[in-house]
Amino acid sequence: MIEQDVAKHYCGRSTDLEEKILQALQKSGKDLNNLVWTDLGGLDEFHLRKREATVEMAELLNLQPETRILDAGSGLGGPSRYLASEFGCHITGIDLSGTFCNVARSFARRFGLDDRLSYQQGSVLELPFQDDSFDVVWTQHVSMNIGNKTGFFTELARVLKPDGMLACYDIIAGTGVPIDFPVPWAETEKISFLASAEEQKQAITYSGLKILSWDDKSQEALAWLEIAQEKLREEKELPQSHKVFRGEGFSEVMSNLVRNFQSGRTRVVQIIGRKPVS
Ligand SMILES: C[S@@+](CC[C@H](N)C(=O)[O-])C[C@H]1O[C@@H](n2cnc3c(N)ncnc32)[C@H](O)[C@@H]1O
Repeated sequence: MIEQDVAKHYCGRSTDLEEKILQALQKSGKDLNNLVWTDLGGLDEFHLRKREATVEMAELLNLQPETRILDAGSGLGGPSRYLASEFGCHITGIDLSGTFCNVARSFARRFGLDDRLSYQQGSVLELPFQDDSFDVVWTQHVSMNIGNKTGFFTELARVLKPDGMLACYDIIAGTGVPIDFPVPWAETEKISFLASAEEQKQAITYSGLKILSWDDKSQEALAWLEIAQEKLREEKELPQSHKVFRGEGFSEVMSNLVRNFQSGRTRVVQIIGRKPVS
């Protein structure tokens, strides 16, 4: 089953994930007794341009302390910790990976954010929430692992309140020419489902959401990736953070990412949408 394969892809290698992350932080010079959430430094944001992209998208949403957000495919919870700390809002994260949810929950407690953050294991294709529950549905780098785009956006639209906002930052197909694997979201094409821009727009519109803005961030992402690749080369050895998640295969993943973006076979877009009032 695809969802099991996706969960295994992200978490298959990880036993004692929290312990490994803490060890990596300690090796990089952080004091574990006085750790603050920003010390994770992007290790907990699994998307291109990390915090920069999160900050950019959050700025478009007029977030307030009373805003209720669903983070669909919340991973290790880095973006939700940022949203809770910066804007004081309440975020519910949902992710296929029970391990990721446990680590996210534990970090929320460790950093005193657990009154605003909660995480639960589950599928974004079958959300365990009532209709019209959230002011904002936030999702970053998740739809690449989902074949049923219409089902995905329809489920997100269902749990959004009327007038609620969709904030989506995702990788889509570019030229239509097959991409090089492995990439961060898939070892092979088996769990990679890149929609074209047209297909992604159609799926969102079909779900009843109105697209307010569609910003192609591929150029920024490529510039960021090229710098990251250069750093990886200069350091010769993988940084601790990359070892935690990808092991020694990371250089190949990075080269493929750069090549896929350079050739226009992948693109990354930031989409803001709204659920119309009835
Ligand atoms: C590339 S990570 C992004 C994590 C997080 N959004 C971030 O940007 O840091 C993709 C995440 O989506 C989750 N995911 C993929 N398909 C999912 C599904 N059908 N339901 C719930 N989570 C899913 C994966 O388990 C993984 O944690």
